[in-house]
Parts: sequence; structure tokens; C-alpha cells
Amino acid sequence: MKNSFTETEIKKFLQANLQPGKYRHTLGVAALAFELAEKNGVSLEKTRLAALLHDCGKEIGRHKRYMSHVSFDRYEKIIKPVWHNKLGEAIAKRRFKIKDRSILSAIRKHSVADRRMSPLDKIIYIADLAERNRTFKAAAMIRRTALKDLNSGFILALSKKIEYVLAKKKPIHPKSIQAWNHYVV
Ligand SMILES: [Fe+2]
Ligand SMILES: [Fe+2]
Repeated sequence: MKNSFTETEIKKFLQANLQPGKYRHTLGVAALAFELAEKNGVSLEKTRLAALLHDCGKEIGRHKRYMSHVSFDRYEKIIKPVWHNKLGEAIAKRRFKIKDRSILSAIRKHSVADRRMSPLDKIIYIADLAERNRTFKAAAMIRRTALKDLNSGFILALSKKIEYVLAKKKPIHPKSIQAWNHYVV
């Protein structure tokens, strides 16, 4: 898979456009995602690009010009923390010329999930939640489970995420619920 941007160029963009903690998180996501990809026979090159770029739109205020390429459904409109998913996808597509749909999908689905999750989608979802800089109680358990079995790790990660959102009394995007109902049975 050829990409015209080198890892160094992408990292330079990320360092300039992410808070230091978020940059560290991104490197953590890449490290765990790599381990999961190796175990599951997923392209390391695609995993690397999806992991590095998954939060590239996190600082939404810096990327206003890409917002016109993004459309939100009625739930996304009221759940601001998910805005950077589609925004990140737009940046990956337009700024970094990523055409590969599986990479774009993993960026777009990385925090909401979907009823259709490819192995790469699951890897980025899990790594985002449970990379080694994450210190919440269940993170280590999610990592352990996912390194043994990707699907079990994904279901555990999804359940912990939904529990967290419920405990905070925040709205849950229907796609997360659809993913849960699809994968838990
Ligand atoms: Fe994110
Ligand atoms: Fe993230």
C-alpha cells in the first residue's frame, strides 16, 4: 500500500496539531494496534496509518476548513466528542490523500463503533480505549482480553465504553447500541 506521506511527515502534523498528551496517546494507540494487527494478520501499513491519524482532527477548532466536507447525523450533532471522528476522516482523505476505505472507516468508527466492524476497525477501537497510557481500571483487562481474542476484546471495550457514557448520563449514539446488539449475540 503506497502513501505519499511519510510517517515523519504525519507525526510532524500531529505534534503541531495535538496536545502533548494526545500525541502520546496516539503513539500508544499505534503500539497496541500494531500488536493486535500482527496477531490477527491485519496489514501493518494500514494499521499504522489508521492509528496515527485516528485523532488527527481532535483539535476541531484548528481544522475549520475541513468541516464543510463533513456532515453529521442528528445524534452526532448533539454529541460533540464524536465530531473529530468524521473530521479526522476528512483530514486523512484531503490532507493526507488517504484513499483506502478500510483506513478511513477505522478513523470514522474509532469511538462510536458500528454494526459492521472490520478487524482493523476493531483494532483501532480497542487500541484507542485501552492503549498503555490509559490508566482506568478496565484498560489492562481490555488489553489482555484483546491480545488473546480480538472479538472478545472488542465486546469488552464496547461494554466499558457504553457503561462509562451511561454513568456520565450522556447520550449514546445509536450506532454504538447497534454494534453492541450485533456483536454480543
Ligand atoms: Fe478519538
Ligand atoms: Fe484516540
